[in-house]
Amino acid sequence: MVHTVTIRHATLADLPLLLQYRRAMAEEIDNADPSVVNRMITALEPYLRAGIAEGRWHAWIAEPGGSGSLEIVQWVPGRQDPSARRAWIHSLYIEPSFRRLGIGRRLTQTIVDWCRKQRFEWVYLHPSELGRPLYQSLGFESASEMRLKL
Ligand SMILES: CC(C)(COP(=O)(O)OP(=O)(O)OC[C@H]1O[C@@H](n2cnc3c(N)ncnc32)[C@H](O)[C@@H]1OP(=O)(O)O)[C@@H](O)C(=O)NCCC(=O)NCCS
Repeated sequence: MVHTVTIRHATLADLPLLLQYRRAMAEEIDNADPSVVNRMITALEPYLRAGIAEGRWHAWIAEPGGSGSLEIVQWVPGRQDPSARRAWIHSLYIEPSFRRLGIGRRLTQTIVDWCRKQRFEWVYLHPSELGRPLYQSLGFESASEMRLKL
C-alpha cells in the first residue's frame, strides 16, 4: 500500500488541505473546543500563507493519506547546535483510515532527508503520545523542556 502513496512538496494551493488536516489534528489529539480550533485556524491561515511564500514553512502531502510540515526558525546558537536556524517538524497528520500503513514514517523520513540536504544538523519536534513511538523508531531522542503558563 505504502508504495502506491505519492509524497510531494506542498505549494500555496495546498493551504486549504493543510488547514483541514491541522483542524482534524487539533480536534483529535487536543480534543479542542470548536471555538478554540476556529480561533487557531483564523490565526494559522495568514501565518502559513506567509511562511510558505517566504520559504520558512514547508509541507509535504501524502496522496492519499495526510501531511507533515516543517518550520525553520531563528534560535540561539548552543553548544550542541551552534546554528542560528532550527528545523521543527509540525503537524504530522494521517487520516485515521490510512494509519499503520507506513505513511507517517515515509512522510517523516522525507522531511528528515530534506533537512539533511539543507545541511541542518538537528531536527526538532514536540511529539504527541501517538507520534512518540514513530519518532523513537526513527531515532529521535527525548530532550527536556519546561514551560510556564502566563
Ligand atoms: C502518529 C501518526 C502520524 C502515525 O502515522 P502512521 O501513518 O499511522 O504511522 P506509520 O504507519 O508510519 O507507523 C510507523 C511506526 O510508528 C509506530 N506507531 C505508529 N502508530 C502507532 C500507534 N498507534 N501505537 C504504537 N505505535 C505506533 C509503530 O512503530 C509503527 O510501525 P509498525 O506499524 O510497523 O508497528 C498518526 O497516528 C496520526 O496522524 N495521529 C494523529 C496526529 C498525531 O498525533 N500526529 C503526531 C503529531 S507529533
